Amino acid sequence: MTARLNVNIDHVATVRQARRAPEPSLVAAAMICEQAGADGITVHLRGDRRHIQDADLYVLRQSLTTYLNLEMAATQEMLKIALDVKPDAVSLVAETPHELTTEGGLNVRDNLETVRDAVNHLREGGIIPSLFIDPDARQIEAAHEVGAEQIELCTAEYAESTLGARAVHGEGAERAAHELQRLRESATLATQYGLRVAAGHGLTYRNVGSLAAINEITEFNIGHNIIARAVLTGLYEAVREMREAIRARG
Ligand code: PXP
Repeated sequence: MTARLNVNIDHVATVRQARRAPEPSLVAAAMICEQAGADGITVHLRGDRRHIQDADLYVLRQSLTTYLNLEMAATQEMLKIALDVKPDAVSLVAETPHELTTEGGLNVRDNLETVRDAVNHLREGGIIPSLFIDPDARQIEAAHEVGAEQIELCTAEYAESTLGARAVHGEGAERAAHELQRLRESATLATQYGLRVAAGHGLTYRNVGSLAAINEITEFNIGHNIIARAVLTGLYEAVREMREAIRARG
């Protein structure tokens, strides 16, 4: 079966927040993703609200016809919001204030009680609890112990290993093969524990294929590479339209 694709649209909100302007509309972006075949939309409500805002969640919840996956830290503040918005799924992530993006998986093993408590609240609220973790057997076992329904494997190391020419020859290729094997084994282990397996972070048009061949991975969450490509594929048309607007002179 083909894995689902949730498109992470945080970067659309980043552009909007750069001007605190109404455009680009997050809902319009989500609609385009759905029309293009996305199976869901992912957004990350960060503690510092640098891109997605609380109000976005409510509008998306009402507008989406597919699936809303909310990434957030396991804090009381975020849990309260999630239980009010009721996304289909919540991916609990590790979050540090000054990071550019999520830097790695949640350490479930060392935070069993906090994560278990958050997972229980989400379950009671009818929300699928997912944990964003590194491809590491200890973390997978811990995710099972705290009652998660799904894990999202952090693909950052794999993605890093496939960058540029490094993956083509020698060490780079070996590292990519090693990271891929780690993800494969982790996906198998998680499935044996009855966990659903998602994956994401740093995935690109070029490196997603090898992961998509792992049958146990049933969902991808991809943002940066899709939005980066959308900027380039849409720029020609956007300039052409502005040229026309000036030419039309009122
Ligand atoms: N999954 C999680 C848990 C993330 O934090 C992110 C980044 O927001 C992604 C997936 C998507 O990563 P990228 O934007 O690199 O595709």
